Amino acid sequence: MLFIAFCKALDECQHCFHQWQHAAFSFLLAAQRGKQECLYICPMDAKEMYMRRCFELARLGEGFTAPNPMVGAVLVHNGRIIGEGYHASYGQAHAEVNAVGSVQPDDKNLIPQSTLYVSLEPCCIHGRTPPCTSLILQEKIPEVVVSVLDYTAEVRGKGLELLRSEGVKVTAGVLAEEGAELSIVRNTFVAKRRPFIALKYARSKDGFMGVRGRQVWISNRYSRRLSHKLRNRFDAILVGTNTALTDDPSLDNRLWYGTSPAKVLLDRNLRVPPESKLFHTPGKTLVVCEAMPDRHSYPEQVEFIRCAFDTELPGSLLQNLAGRNISSLLVEGGAVTLNHFIDQGLWDEAWIFTSNHRLGEGIQAPPLAGVEVSGFQLGSDRITVLHAISRRKFSAEIARLSACS
Ligand SMILES: NC(=O)c1ccc[n+]([C@@H]2O[C@H](COP(=O)([O-])OP(=O)(O)OC[C@H]3O[C@@H](n4cnc5c(N)ncnc54)[C@H](OP(=O)(O)O)[C@@H]3O)[C@@H](O)[C@H]2O)c1
Repeated sequence: MLFIAFCKALDECQHCFHQWQHAAFSFLLAAQRGKQECLYICPMDAKEMYMRRCFELARLGEGFTAPNPMVGAVLVHNGRIIGEGYHASYGQAHAEVNAVGSVQPDDKNLIPQSTLYVSLEPCCIHGRTPPCTSLILQEKIPEVVVSVLDYTAEVRGKGLELLRSEGVKVTAGVLAEEGAELSIVRNTFVAKRRPFIALKYARSKDGFMGVRGRQVWISNRYSRRLSHKLRNRFDAILVGTNTALTDDPSLDNRLWYGTSPAKVLLDRNLRVPPESKLFHTPGKTLVVCEAMPDRHSYPEQVEFIRCAFDTELPGSLLQNLAGRNISSLLVEGGAVTLNHFIDQGLWDEAWIFTSNHRLGEGIQAPPLAGVEVSGFQLGSDRITVLHAISRRKFSAEIARLSACS
């Protein structure tokens, strides 16, 4: 209901969405600050409460941090949040730096008596920014509480070890399952060395996802907006040849704030004409093909990946995408393309939009078995979210893979 009301408001007021988001965030902050007043009567574990705030902050970076994870941090002194921050964009300051930087001048002297809560283990390596462990030691922060480890090979527990060896009190594993969920894209990317993969498709009530040779709309307008929200979350979006030919999709994010993903088209014999929309919407388009392209027929931002279209295709393509720092991939169909990924077990999450209309005949939607983690109604459509395996097993598997690599 809330999402639909939100979509309606957006339809009427698209241009001022950013101000809207900002106002909502300010409201959230004010509410959160108000909540501190009731800290002592709140039955929720204080560590969990601050960690939940870290998660909220982290999500504000959604769509902007890849291939880095979303991370949030709060600095707490005697039950009062004196600083908070999140990783807002790739290459910019980490959450811990922003949290420390947000402390008011009058509170700066409290930093060495405060506890830092972070949704992900602080880094101990020089990347695009200096290590956060150095900042923690330099600011003499005596206690750090984290949700999950960072499975990046050079970090993976070493950040916490270093802090402990310097006398910092460290607690790990607070709301670990939710923390793992928040960092699932990053941790999949570094542990499995391939992008995190989500499948997304709409199907009719009787199980069809399209009609051969012509475009049909299956899901409703709220679902379409939710699809664009999903596109904001992913680094790249992939479709097969027939989908590009039949639907002529733009494959960009027009109906939600944030970024548009890179576009990936599987087109073995270059059957999709250069004037198709997806080649002309902003951002890079990667065309996976066997045939030799006539480069000059396509806009400059189109790049070609020559690949054999055999059973190895999804695996070698994913390797290629990972090499380009594409850490998450949304596979939007059609059926042939989806089935190639499903048959090889190459998916992590699936979003299935089921309408209440029947098509009677057409292209069968893929059968998909997974763990249902969410199901909700969006107007006339039913949205089901599946995970390939349970996240608990998933996190255990990632921990195991990381240990072997
Ligand atoms: N309801 C939804 O959510 C949704 C989403 C997307 C599309 N659709 C509908 O689905 C229909 C298209 O689906 P579709 O199953 O016919 O086609 P598709 O998956 O879009 O494209 C299939 C074609 O892509 C190439 N291809 C993809 N993966 C390949 C692989 N691993 N190995 C070899 N070739 C590969 C092949 O092209 P070549 O034959 O040239 O080798 C294959 O014939 C359209 O009607 C569209 O409207 C529905």
